[in-house]
Amino acid sequence: MTKKLYIETVGCQMNVLDSELVVGSLRRLGYELVYQPTDADLIFFNTCSVRQHAEDKIYSALGRLRGHKQRHPHKIVGVLGCMAQKDQEIIKRRAPHVDIICGPGQLAQLPQLVAEVQKTGDLQLAVSLGRAEASRHDVETSFESYDPARDPSMRPNPFQAYVRIMIGCDKFCTYCIVPSVRGPEQSRHPEQIAAEVRQLAGEGCKEVTLLGQTVNSYKFQSPDGRHWRLSDLLARIHDTPGIERIKFVTNFPKDMTDDLLDAVRDLPKVCSYLHVPVQSGCNDVLKRMKRLYTVEYYREMLARCREKVPGVAVSSDFIVGFCGETEESFQRTCDLVSEAGFKNSFIFKYSPRPSTKADDLYPDDVPEEVKKRRNNDLLAIQNAVSLADHRRKIGETVEVLVEGTSKTFEKRGGPVQLTGRTMTDHIVVFEGNERLIGRTVRVQIEEATSFTIFGTVETEETIGASETCCEAPMAAPHDASHRRVGLPLV
Ligand code: SAH
Ligand code: SF4
Ligand code: F3S
Repeated sequence: MTKKLYIETVGCQMNVLDSELVVGSLRRLGYELVYQPTDADLIFFNTCSVRQHAEDKIYSALGRLRGHKQRHPHKIVGVLGCMAQKDQEIIKRRAPHVDIICGPGQLAQLPQLVAEVQKTGDLQLAVSLGRAEASRHDVETSFESYDPARDPSMRPNPFQAYVRIMIGCDKFCTYCIVPSVRGPEQSRHPEQIAAEVRQLAGEGCKEVTLLGQTVNSYKFQSPDGRHWRLSDLLARIHDTPGIERIKFVTNFPKDMTDDLLDAVRDLPKVCSYLHVPVQSGCNDVLKRMKRLYTVEYYREMLARCREKVPGVAVSSDFIVGFCGETEESFQRTCDLVSEAGFKNSFIFKYSPRPSTKADDLYPDDVPEEVKKRRNNDLLAIQNAVSLADHRRKIGETVEVLVEGTSKTFEKRGGPVQLTGRTMTDHIVVFEGNERLIGRTVRVQIEEATSFTIFGTVETEETIGASETCCEAPMAAPHDASHRRVGLPLV
């Protein structure tokens, strides 16, 4: 009988990619993916620790499974990813029915861990070294980049893929858990990345999104002494036959160098879209966050992006209610959002993370209701900015890579609503035939809301020769943070 695997994923794109790879490697061992935890023999949670809420979700999902595991003791429950690395033994205490605890730097061990549980029934713990536990070199080697063979059937659709170009982070923003759970920053060999992109393209992939916590800090010295930056890597993979679009996330403002902006402008397949989180519009807050730049620097950087790459779309992240954020500091953030013209912003309420600098040094002194209000207020400002940005597009014709059908705008019995993205990462919804999924079409923009742009396909003739036609569900938008591999996501 086929063994069945369920995996639930929370967190960032890195986790989405990790889950895809985990499922791919277990499928090669004969497992089949199912969508109900109770249907599975192997039940995995790929977890995130960036905010308390993400952890709470997983602990309650684990709690709900307790009875099921008692009734089916042969089933294996695994906690993978960032919370496994962060909580380690705590998971054992809070969820004693868990069989596998596997950090993001140890995912290559999973098949052996599963085999070991099947053989012995004992809990398997595989985590990497803590950042202060050993030398930089030893900690680095304990975080293994997980890059097994790709399996196109494991992605929401075969024409879009994430490609990891780095692991870890060395920035140590004071609020952030990522450097401790994902380990030291390490860049992958450019030729390995280029080979993966070639392989993906060979399997019908048209769009790759390069992933790194601070993707524009990419640096690699090859044995011949050559220094590679992100701009060099973009040039290296640009001419891969079959690849039509290249994106990269997430950028760190201080590393937004001119060579990168030149590459975005000059390489036609590189999307004119930069996600460069600013986090706050107040210098005192930025200083306490240890973001290493001032608002003045950020504004200048933004102007440079727009001057060098005409028409570029920029998006940001914000944390509201960070320690010591006064009404005045928050007002500065509001002013920045009103003026900066971000395409969109992701706004988060500060969530103290144990053993981060901010948690050690500063009290979490902004009350929850104030965080909530600031979150709503900032969102309202951003929505007005996004609406104005979207309205400016009315009358334009844009090229859209069709990602799938839109469940949100589905009309009962009406024509199929398709959704896709422009080269500037704007979401466009329009009527069309499902055979256009996976193709690039020209759409004339007619209407807009804060979240979506609506239009009409100019011609059903597609741009660029392509034989790929896919019935697969909607692709994973980069901002969708809770999803299961292989499930529709709209
Ligand atoms: N490496 C990326 C993303 C890190 S996590 C970057 O540097 O931008 C994604 C976002 O979560 C961050 O940009 C930040 O806005 C938010 N975040 C991180 N830690 C947080 C915390 N402790 N509380 C609330 N939001 C947090
Ligand atoms: Fe966290 Fe800062 Fe690194 Fe981003 S750059 S992952 S916010 S420490
Ligand atoms: Fe979360 Fe880990 Fe990503 S903490 S945001 S899943 S790197």
